[in-house]
Amino acid sequence: MVPGLPPLSPHSPEAHAIFGLWNETLGVCAVIFALVVGLVAYCVVRFRARGPHAPGSPEPPQIHGHKRLEIAWTAAPFVVVMVLFELTARTMGASDPPPMREPDLVVTGHQWWWEARYPSGVVTANEIHVPAGKDLLVRIESADVIHDFWVPELGRKIDATPGHPTFLTVQADAPGTYLGTCAEYCGVQHAWMRIVVVAEEQAAFDAWQRKQLEPAPPPASREAARGAVLFRDRTCVKCHAITGLGEGARAAPDLTHLASRATLGAGVLGNTKDTLTGWLKDPQLYKPGSHMPSLRLTDDETQALVAYFEELR
Ligand code: CUA
Repeated sequence: MVPGLPPLSPHSPEAHAIFGLWNETLGVCAVIFALVVGLVAYCVVRFRARGPHAPGSPEPPQIHGHKRLEIAWTAAPFVVVMVLFELTARTMGASDPPPMREPDLVVTGHQWWWEARYPSGVVTANEIHVPAGKDLLVRIESADVIHDFWVPELGRKIDATPGHPTFLTVQADAPGTYLGTCAEYCGVQHAWMRIVVVAEEQAAFDAWQRKQLEPAPPPASREAARGAVLFRDRTCVKCHAITGLGEGARAAPDLTHLASRATLGAGVLGNTKDTLTGWLKDPQLYKPGSHMPSLRLTDDETQALVAYFEELR
């Protein structure tokens, strides 16, 4: 269970299917448990040592073989296993249908953040917006090691395997924010690979997508203009993309609309002026092992970069 995540609260058809299987399996196991405990209790009372079987008395009559009992204890578990098999196969069909079309969204796990790419051309990080009520086919990839995409309220977990894309359907029943995390140990910052899925009404999603497609605005202040120059000169541009400034780099999160996101470092910090300043000065302080090095920026340079990034709404 992930701290802070509500357990057992399905919010998608896939999650409902998995939740249903959990309940059915629990029911079957509860009946078996009650039966075993009941029989043990019955035998303990009914056949306890007393009368001729008291300590010191001769061995009771020994029974060898009982055809009907043997058939019963072979057939009963077989039926139970077949019922569970059928229920599981049905859930797999509901929670993991095969991909039959182009994906609506490509999510790539990186050490240690998530990249989301949409067919429209939108590229963002860690905060994945989806239209509520839509059945989305999501292609899961990895850029480096094995990660695992898991948003419990929206369905099953699935590995992100380098070189072998996997698919999953995601459908949020209602608008809301659904939290998830990387669920496969992937290195020192595995714990800080949080996922936020923001499900919105179609109109709100379309508006978000239109906004995300806009290129970064030209710097509005002198300070921000200096920040934009530093972004290129201090090598940020080698890893991060900002549409209009440098678009090839995909090693680190796209920053074109950085200020529109709520967190930094895949959830390790809230996104405010202060945290952004701290993060730029020394990312290793907040996310040790992160692939973003400390660039030893001066206070002046940091301020200019923050001024620029704050304009990237
Ligand atoms: Cu990525 Cu754990």
